Amino acid sequence: MYVRRLKLTNWRNFREVDIPLQEVTCLVGANAAGKSNLLDVFRFLRDVCKPDGGGLQAAIKDRQGFQKLRCLHARKVSHVGIEVELTESPTDEVPDWRYLLAFAAEGKGAQRTVVKEEKAWRKGELVLNRPNAEDAADTERRLQTHLQQVQANQPFRDILNFFADTVYLHVVPQLLKFGDQIGGQRLDNDPFGQGLLETIARVPERVRKTRLDRINKALQSAIPSVRDLKFVRDEISGRPHLEARYLHHRPHAGWQREEQFSDGTLRLIGLLWSLSETGSMLLLEEPELSLNEKIVAQIPRMITSIRRDSKRRRQILLSTHSAALLANKAFGPKDILILSAGKEGSTVRLPNEDETEEMEAGLSAADAVMRKIRMEVGGLEAA
Ligand SMILES: Nc1ncnc2c1ncn2[C@@H]1O[C@H](COP(=O)(O)OP(=O)(O)O)[C@@H](O)[C@H]1O
Ligand SMILES: [Mg+2]
Repeated sequence: MYVRRLKLTNWRNFREVDIPLQEVTCLVGANAAGKSNLLDVFRFLRDVCKPDGGGLQAAIKDRQGFQKLRCLHARKVSHVGIEVELTESPTDEVPDWRYLLAFAAEGKGAQRTVVKEEKAWRKGELVLNRPNAEDAADTERRLQTHLQQVQANQPFRDILNFFADTVYLHVVPQLLKFGDQIGGQRLDNDPFGQGLLETIARVPERVRKTRLDRINKALQSAIPSVRDLKFVRDEISGRPHLEARYLHHRPHAGWQREEQFSDGTLRLIGLLWSLSETGSMLLLEEPELSLNEKIVAQIPRMITSIRRDSKRRRQILLSTHSAALLANKAFGPKDILILSAGKEGSTVRLPNEDETEEMEAGLSAADAVMRKIRMEVGGLEAA
């Protein structure tokens, strides 16, 4: 499934958002424009659906409570609202599913958050409609969404499975390289990629080989010095490792393990691995970090290469403030969403008419859109 449209009310620094999403969408914006906050909507929905230790209350508590979540610029409307439209195929126009969740502070001493409204539609037909009579009879029920209730969510379980399967990736190479020394403390869902090696190890050998072949293919032109990436187990400890031939300084340079890979190479491998996995939405936080611009410029091509080879393509929501990433023409005007911070909070928009025209005439997103963002940042810095 694919999220085709996202609407938000009072979500963090966004007072009001209504945006279309594509198979691959780039969130472009200066620092503090709200890119991470926008990605966080889908992490939040995933956390609400999480079978152990998840749910609405936990997802809000993990974000320091309702008051931190609700937009500081909110006016009359006091709730936070999230609405998504989903389609089975990436090209469908009419949504197969729609889901809406609104929650607000209960307004009593205990500062609990309650579901104000929760609705789901399947092909336009309402299959969940809260608050209902049971909610009215027992207000405690409003502490939970029906996403988290197996008895109640059967009619819209597809949505729940989609949300629950979301992956957020922001590989921190040091955590991966020195995980053992650090002591293996890991967050749920492993957002920083510490468990990448174990994840790769868990996949059946044949699948793993196919994926690593694809990754090698994608890596080839971006980092020609890294060859033949493969999976190995340490003979003594049995621990999983990645190895690659490194052909830089000496003609016969030998094999290296992940702790010797550059940070950029490791981040890229993490990215390519997650692209090759099946699953629902993939959230990529600034994939350009610790990579040089030449390699960053190749990220869109690598994404395309990996996706072309996979049968079930996952939807990608990627945040960036790299002009290099947007310098080629992989992304059309529809694939770009521009975030800007203002006095009333942040806004999100598609490229305007001029920018779209420029892109259609052959300018890259970097040239049509990015320069303005730079100027905005310049303006803020000067202020
Ligand atoms: N509830 C809120 N209301 C208003 N602004 C918020 C809220 N929560 C966070 N912010 C602001 O959002 C900004 C951070 O956005 P973030 O998503 O991290 O930006 P980016 O990833 O684009 O650098 C900060 O300026 C922070 O103060
Ligand atoms: Mg960020």
